Amino acid sequence: MDNQGDRIIIFDTTLRDGEQSPGATLNVDEKLTIAKALARLGVDIIEAGFPYSSPGDFQAVAKIAETVGLENGPVICGLARATFNDIKTAAEALRPAYKKRIHTFLATSDIHLEYKLKKSRADVLKIVPEMVAYAKSLVDDVEFSPEDAGRSDPEFLYQVLESAIKAGATTVNIPDTVGYVTPGEYGLLIKGIKENVPNIDQAIISVHGHNDLGLAVANFLEAVKNGARQLECTINGIGERAGNAALEELVMALHVRRQYFNPFLGRSAESAEPLTRIDTKQIYKVSRLVSNLTGMIVQPNKAIVGANAFAHESGIHQDGVLKNPLTYEIINAESIGLTNNQLVLGKLSGRNAFRNRLKEIGYELSDQDLNKAFVRFKEVADKKKEITDRDLEAIISDEIQQPPELFKLELVQVSCGDHASPTATVTLRDAQGKDLSDAAIGTGPVDAVYKAINRVIDIPNELIEFSVQSVTEGIDAMGEVTIRLRHKGFIYSGHAANTDIIVAAAKAYINALNRLCAVANNQPSSLVN
Ligand code: KIV
Ligand code: ZN
Repeated sequence: MDNQGDRIIIFDTTLRDGEQSPGATLNVDEKLTIAKALARLGVDIIEAGFPYSSPGDFQAVAKIAETVGLENGPVICGLARATFNDIKTAAEALRPAYKKRIHTFLATSDIHLEYKLKKSRADVLKIVPEMVAYAKSLVDDVEFSPEDAGRSDPEFLYQVLESAIKAGATTVNIPDTVGYVTPGEYGLLIKGIKENVPNIDQAIISVHGHNDLGLAVANFLEAVKNGARQLECTINGIGERAGNAALEELVMALHVRRQYFNPFLGRSAESAEPLTRIDTKQIYKVSRLVSNLTGMIVQPNKAIVGANAFAHESGIHQDGVLKNPLTYEIINAESIGLTNNQLVLGKLSGRNAFRNRLKEIGYELSDQDLNKAFVRFKEVADKKKEITDRDLEAIISDEIQQPPELFKLELVQVSCGDHASPTATVTLRDAQGKDLSDAAIGTGPVDAVYKAINRVIDIPNELIEFSVQSVTEGIDAMGEVTIRLRHKGFIYSGHAANTDIIVAAAKAYINALNRLCAVANNQPSSLVN
């Protein structure tokens, strides 16, 4: 990693802190898919997981290290508490990566020391250099985080950071773990660190923060002005509680307001050199991918990637934009990869045209995946005249970026109306190729379908969220259904797209049940028997 003063390093923690959002649990294949997309996006570092926390996390970090951690790829990072076992396990998982980083942490605030760790400040000053030195003996690139730095005594923090850098930390991260600090305070904290930690010039200052007061992005930007050069963030801002600082907001703020930020990085205001290495045109696509795989829906008014982020409703605004887009638009939608491409392919398009268009929008599929996606494309093209890039993305998300299926929908039929009892029949195919059919009556068509599926996959759960969004405009648009359900206190999400929203609803439910069944001990009685 180059220790440049004049560029901002983007450290993505979607797969570690982001995955800590309730219900956002991802399997190894899904994490790998996201890691590949993050590499295409151009992030400098991927925090791929917390290897000691579970065998699944270890496996995911190892797989990402092997597949994405290539010579020209990003640094792959693994989180570890400041203990020998955590650090050793992280190093093992990271071994295949060309560039690897261990990120070790220990809390420094009095409240964490007294109640959570039951340790003294003296203990911390002993443990930190010992564990950083141990990590350094295993990898060259070590990051240290004093957890809850935002509520720690600054004088103590300076001492801890100095000892971490002396022991070999090349990045020191300053987490606002509970999302408590305000922008002015965060800026002063970073300034204080620069002025009071004698060896700070030997490390990059990083920031990490949660959004409990909605201030995470503003805090980071103030930190940049005061010397922070690495930003730890997640796609769509997902993460613990109110989430982490959102990557797309930080990157676009630095992109759109480059002239304002340039001087803080020692450049002339006019410098056209990008402040980050992110390919902004990938932002929308990665946002959709993360939303679809985690089941964390992006709110319509979310900055940068929300459905309304580029919509102008008021007549005065529309009139202004038609005369000159700059009247009300500070960001060109195309700069985040939103295209106006209306007619891309139709039902007469062949496999080559399909493959080429997918390649142009960033998807290179294996022959097997291409065949699968092509069959689905033809089905959609039969029902929908105009297939746009967004439809293609929905097809890929639905057909290719899905976990292995234990159950597959073979048939769903409903009869409903204002004078009928909504009735559904379903047929599911199980992993052994056996077809299982059943029928049920519900309060509406979706309820009837879910009840019929419940009769086949006998596993108790509670539906806690159901949402339908259209992929594009138009009456023939595909509908995307995202659901979340709860089983034994855990949340599982499901996602599917189809021109028929009842089919999408059925597939989304089966998708969530497949994830649930993939977790050990969650076997439905129809499989157990
Ligand atoms: O929020 C936090 O403090 C963290 C640390 C592990 C960096 O996620
Ligand atoms: Zn965090």
